[in-house]
Amino acid sequence: MKLPTIALTLLASVLSATAQSAFIRTPANGSAISRGTNTTVQVTKPNSLTGSTSVALAIGLRSCEPSTTSPSPSCLSIPSDEFFGYVAYTGPFAPVYHETALPPYQNLTVYVPQGFAQGTAVLSIAHFVLVGAGPETILDVSNVTVTVV
Ligand SMILES: *[C@@H]1O[C@H](CO)[C@@H](O)[C@H](O)[C@H]1NC(C)=O
Ligand SMILES: *[C@@H]1O[C@H](CO)[C@@H](O)[C@H](O)[C@H]1NC(C)=O
Ligand SMILES: *[C@@H]1O[C@H](CO)[C@@H](O)[C@H](O)[C@H]1NC(C)=O
Ligand SMILES: *[C@@H]1O[C@H](CO)[C@@H](O)[C@H](O)[C@H]1NC(C)=O
Repeated sequence: MKLPTIALTLLASVLSATAQSAFIRTPANGSAISRGTNTTVQVTKPNSLTGSTSVALAIGLRSCEPSTTSPSPSCLSIPSDEFFGYVAYTGPFAPVYHETALPPYQNLTVYVPQGFAQGTAVLSIAHFVLVGAGPETILDVSNVTVTVV
């Protein structure tokens, strides 16, 4: 029974490294968001076997269009954990079940400034979470690509 135990332990550590991640469910990757309005960002955190506590979240929006301050047309190649962009939200994050069909989530309202550049942009979250018995402290960053209109 040694091998299965090792396999399970490995599996468990892989799961604990990924299963506590949060991600942006809406706006969906590739969708449009409007300037000068509030947009609902639905951040989902799938339930996992490993206990974890979400502590905080930040939401950033970075334009990928060339400008005087950001001449690079390929900003998608710069990871958002190095260049987060306009900080649209910082604060608590406590995803809970709402609809039975959906994993725990929290809706956050963010305002996209009227002056934000139109075109492709990266909408990112940085999620601070405590995982497991230690607990381990993890900062988990993910994104969707949107079109600002
Ligand atoms: C955006 O939402 C905030 C409250 O969440 C509200 O005070 C503000 O008026 C809204 N702005 C617009 C343009 O709807
Ligand atoms: C967005 O997330 C993907 C993985 O889903 C990653 O490959 C990409 O580098 C990220 N983009 C930015 C700008 O961080
Ligand atoms: C979260 O936002 C989505 C989309 O706007 C909406 O359908 C859902 O009812 C909202 N959930 C809660 C709990 O407000
Ligand atoms: C979003 O879609 C773009 C293509 O439009 C793709 O390159 C990217 O990997 C997708 N990102 C995620 C997080 O699925």
